[in-house]
Amino acid sequence: MSVRKARRNTGARDDSAPRRLERFEGRRRSVQLASDDPARTLEIGRAIGRLLPAGSVLSLEGSLGAGKTLIAKGICAGLGVSDEVLSPSFVLAEEYSGAFPVVHFDLYRLDNVDEIERIGLFDAIDGRAVVIVEWGDRLGADMLGADVRIVMEFAGERSRKITIDGGGNLLDSLERSAA
Ligand SMILES: Nc1ncnc2c1ncn2[C@@H]1O[C@H](COP(=O)(O)OP(=O)(O)O)[C@@H](O)[C@H]1O
Ligand SMILES: [Mg+2]
Repeated sequence: MSVRKARRNTGARDDSAPRRLERFEGRRRSVQLASDDPARTLEIGRAIGRLLPAGSVLSLEGSLGAGKTLIAKGICAGLGVSDEVLSPSFVLAEEYSGAFPVVHFDLYRLDNVDEIERIGLFDAIDGRAVVIVEWGDRLGADMLGADVRIVMEFAGERSRKITIDGGGNLLDSLERSAA
């Protein structure tokens, strides 16, 4: 017997535009999306950014040029950030403001795990700011405790495989949205 509940059609909700989540909930799972164009990666990021609740911590992983900064730009756009989002590679952290404060880190140049103290990574995780960490896997053994993990992989010059791991409610909404 199917346990799937019939979709209620109240007419009050636009299913094409899922609302921002209040928190992550539901069993954690992952989805894989294919992107064959930078614009598509941006759009996927935007769809994610529109759903993120305050305080979300994201780890963006994948090799150089895989598209971490590009998807971060989309995520920021979906969070309503209007400033130009740059790669924080040289400065380790950039701060923006959108629906919530957004702090964007890049740990590529991190030599020593002690440095994360200096750059204020754990201070940034305050339950309100959305914290986006490129190369979050550099912290090892999931020190970041990211709510959402996004892994970008090359699948061709302009194609990427994007694996998003997170709370079931995020992925359900994401699958219902443009992504
Ligand atoms: N489908 C795609 N998705 C993301 N980036 C792509 C795609 N196709 C080509 N690119 C290019 O790959 C590069 C990704 O760069 P960037 O986002 O800075 O990578 P990273 O931050 O992972 O080092 C950009 O130059 C972008 O235009
Ligand atoms: Mg980058």
